[in-house]
This record gives sequence, C-alpha cells and structure tokens, in this order.
Amino acid sequence: MMKKAYITAVGTYLPEKILTNQDLEKLVDTTDEWIVSRTGMKNRHIAADGQYTSDMGANAARIALKRGGISPLDIDLILVATLSPDYAFPSTACLIQAAIGAKNAAAFDIQAACTGMVYALAVGKSFIESGMYKNILIIASEKLSSITDYQDRNTCILFGDGAAACLLGPEGPGLIIGKVSLGADGEQSAILSLPAGGSRHPASLETVEKRMHYLKMDGKEVFKHAVRRMEASAIKCIAESSLQLEDIAYLVPHQANIRIIDAIAKRCRIPDERVIKVVELYGNTSASSIGLALEKLVVENKIKDKDHLLLVAFGAGLTWGSLILTAEGDFGL
Ligand code: ACO
Repeated sequence: MMKKAYITAVGTYLPEKILTNQDLEKLVDTTDEWIVSRTGMKNRHIAADGQYTSDMGANAARIALKRGGISPLDIDLILVATLSPDYAFPSTACLIQAAIGAKNAAAFDIQAACTGMVYALAVGKSFIESGMYKNILIIASEKLSSITDYQDRNTCILFGDGAAACLLGPEGPGLIIGKVSLGADGEQSAILSLPAGGSRHPASLETVEKRMHYLKMDGKEVFKHAVRRMEASAIKCIAESSLQLEDIAYLVPHQANIRIIDAIAKRCRIPDERVIKVVELYGNTSASSIGLALEKLVVENKIKDKDHLLLVAFGAGLTWGSLILTAEGDFGL
C-alpha cells in the first residue's frame, strides 16, 4: 500500500521589530485608514539588520523539530520555499542545513513565490509517498523587507518578514497531506516581479538608479487574478477529492489582502469563523503566510481528529495551488 505523508509538527518565527501603519505614514503618503480599509493590515514584522532569510527559516525549523521530537541528524531532505533567498546561490536550504546541523539531509530551494509552501508540501508528499525519504523539513522563509521599496506606497504597505516550517513524515498522528492541485500561468509573469539581479538585468548602476532591485507589482491585476485563480484552484482540488466544500473545517488561505481572502471565502461559501486570517498582524509574508496561518490553528488547539483543512495559495509566476490536510488525531500543542 502507498505510504501516506503527514505533517507531524509545525514551527514559526517572527522577528521582533514591528512596522505599524503609523510608521508607514511617516515614510510615504498614506494613512492608517487607507491601509486598513484596502488591505486589512495593521502590523508587519521586520527582520533586524544582520538577520537573514536563512536565520529566520532555521529558527522556525528548530521549533518544528523540537515539537516533533526529531533530531536534525534524522532529516533526509530540506526544502525551502522563498523568493527572498540569502543569495542567488548557494541555496537557502543549504544554509539552513548547516545552521541546524542536518548533516544527512539533501537540500534545495523551491521558487513558486507566495505559492511556495503549497508547492513544497506537494513535493515533500511525493518523496514520502514514494518511500524515497522518511523525514523532510519544509521551510518557508521571507525577508521581503530586503526587496521592498519603502518609497513606493503601492507596495511598501503590504509586506512583512517571517518564517514557517512543517516537519513531514510517513507516520501519524498529524495532518495527512491529501489531494493537491497546482497550477501556473507564465504569460502573466510581468504583473509581479523583481526585475533586476538575474541574468536578464544583472546589477549595474542603471538597475540601481532605476530601483529595479525592488519588487514591482500591478496591484489591480494581481488582485483580479488572485481571486479568480484561488477560487478555481480550491474548487478543482475539492472536486478531485471525495469531499465537498461543506466538509472543510478551516480554509487556510495565502494572506495577501483581507479583501482577497474574504472574496475567496464568499465565492467558496465558507463562513467567516472557518477562515483563518493573520494578515492584520503580519501583512503579506509571501511563502511563509500559509504556515503562519496554520500555526494560529495549532497554538489555539483548534484542529480536531478527522478535521479537513483546505490550503489555498497564489503568487508571482503566476502560480497557484490548493491542498487538503486531514487530521489523524487532534493536532495542537
Ligand atoms: N496609501 C494611499 N493611497 C494609495 C496607496 C497607499 N498606500 N497605495 C495606492 N494608493 C492610491 C493609488 O495611487 C490610487 O490613486 P489614484 O486613484 O489617484 O491613482 C488609489 O489609491 C487607488 O489605488 P488602487 O490600486 O485602485 O487600490 P486598490 O483598491 O486596488 O488597492 C492594493 C491596492 C491594496 C495593492 C490591491 O490592489 C491589492 O491588494 N492587490 C493585490 C496585492 C497582492 O496580493 N499582492 C501580492 C500577491 S502575490 C504575493 O504575495 C507576492
């Protein structure tokens, strides 16, 4: 019989410094009222100088390992989802492997922007179900403050830093990774990107002067695609499973904007009390956001035996993905 892949523990890390809407009012022409009404955000955590994506990811990983009771030496594979890696290379996964002493683990990064955690969970699930690996660390970590233009009011209000980790294994109790549905549309790649620093526009005086090393976004277009794609992805994933939307105990969406989350919940007819939202506290933390939302359910001991969770994400690429988790045993602290 095919093995099952379980999330057996989660861990998260948020840097200490908080950037409030009032702080942003001092940086750009904006107001707390505008930000709250358009995005639902109040705070974001911001990494300290000298604290990088790999540091935050390693901290989240250590918590997941401790909660799961697994030694770093027993980890077979580290997968890191990030769009703000420490370097273009070596991978952030290799840096975290060294930081946590997971000497026996293979390590690589996954680039699916805000959908990264869902893509990485799908890859981890496949490795476990095939029997190739037993213990896998899936880590999402972002230092978005390093690619955010704090002179651009259209984007700088949205993003925050933080990390989340999931420990995967072939045995429960835990959250069984069930049906997965992934998608992409590279034809829309221009609406959300980091233009310079790659082979197309290597760093030069010109790229720096034109502020091309900061994230650029057509907010309206991204909003439209995010709502459409996440709704369609959630419905496809449910249709391909043996479940109905009414069976979902919790919707755990990517935390891009409260209006996007509410629109998807409404279109999927999932009542507000079953929709997990942390966007007010953390802003959009890209790949990390779904893990931070899942952590909220875990620390509040909300996930009960046989509950089904629906994770739905969307990001640059464009990429999107949905995934069903089913609890075997209560899943809390
Ligand atoms: N403060 C005050 N005014 C602002 C601000 C601000 N921070 N930002 C923009 N405005 C102005 C605009 O300049 C515009 O003014 P104009 O009408 O005079 O031109 C006006 O507010 C309205 O702007 P809109 O773009 O229409 O505002 P909208 O309601 O679309 O909200 C937002 C903008 C919040 C960016 C929204 O489009 C959004 O959330 N988009 C999706 C963003 C997202 O999810 N991105 C990431 C997804 S993937 C990933 O996470 C990497």
